[in-house]
Amino acid sequence: MPVPLIERFRAVLPVSETTPVVSLGEGSTPLLQAPRLSERYGREIWLKWEGANPTGSYKDRGMTMAVSKGLEEGAQAVVCASTGNTAASAAAYAARAGIPALILTSEGATGEKVAQARMHGARVLAVRGSFDDTLAAARALGEGGNHVLVNSLNPYRREGQKTAVYEIVEQLGGAPDAFVIPYGGGGNTSAYAQALAELSLDALLVSAEAADRRRTIASAIRIGEPAHAERVRSSGALVVTVGDDEILEAWRELAALEGIFCEPSSAAGLAAVRRGDVPGDRLAVTLTGHGLKDVATADRLAPPPLLVEADPDAIRELSEGDFP
Ligand code: F0G
Repeated sequence: MPVPLIERFRAVLPVSETTPVVSLGEGSTPLLQAPRLSERYGREIWLKWEGANPTGSYKDRGMTMAVSKGLEEGAQAVVCASTGNTAASAAAYAARAGIPALILTSEGATGEKVAQARMHGARVLAVRGSFDDTLAAARALGEGGNHVLVNSLNPYRREGQKTAVYEIVEQLGGAPDAFVIPYGGGGNTSAYAQALAELSLDALLVSAEAADRRRTIASAIRIGEPAHAERVRSSGALVVTVGDDEILEAWRELAALEGIFCEPSSAAGLAAVRRGDVPGDRLAVTLTGHGLKDVATADRLAPPPLLVEADPDAIRELSEGDFP
């Protein structure tokens, strides 16, 4: 098993020798060079592949911290509101810790993410209304009892998530000119900004949000009112707004040109790069979640398979020069 994130970054995390470490082997994800995208957009583009985390998204970095610290502080259960990835991660780490999870999903959550949470034995409630309403309910529940709120309002989440920046700097042997990430609620932007401050880096932080926040196809960042808007403003991050068409084109390019299948929201950062809104020669673009988290969108938008008889000649004919 990879070194648990808490062990690897113990020196820069608020943990002690007595903190119980709840880990699924998160972090230490690949930083992949993107030769075709680099050539196409005239920059050196690196992709931080966070879909490689245990539950398929970067949320695991923060969840190992939130659940470990929650246990240390006596929490008996976890609660969260989620567009899906936080739900899957919270349910997995709660199961790992042997405590119950109460998951409130918003109506935009994908079936895959909800199925993950259900498989881990969490109590999953689909809440009518927007993500913002759902988060307000989760906050109230977190304040009222033995449940620890594990949304990124929990400061330990951000502590864990900041480690992505530490890894990128280590993997590149220095800071890139810009770090580029999607912007939903802004928890990750504040986590990255915290790491930049801790490491005294003057790299630019670029946060890409969906133009139509309430209805974007990128369901993970379908959030009308970002909980961390104020933190994002004061972080100095450059906020770039991208349309769904741009997100989808970037998403297809990542899959077709570089072999990386991320979920649509994860492509928001590359969408900002493609339109020329990100300055700098060397860019670290974080892909936050795995494409298998939203198979329905891929299935709807990728070319469908053609039906053919099991006849080599017919197959050769239909594959139109795919066999040189
Ligand atoms: N990318 C993915 C794959 C996400 O799941 C999220 C947020 C973001 C980006 C945006 O990060 O909110 O810190 O700005 N997902 C949350 C959830 C809202 O409930 O899983 P942010």
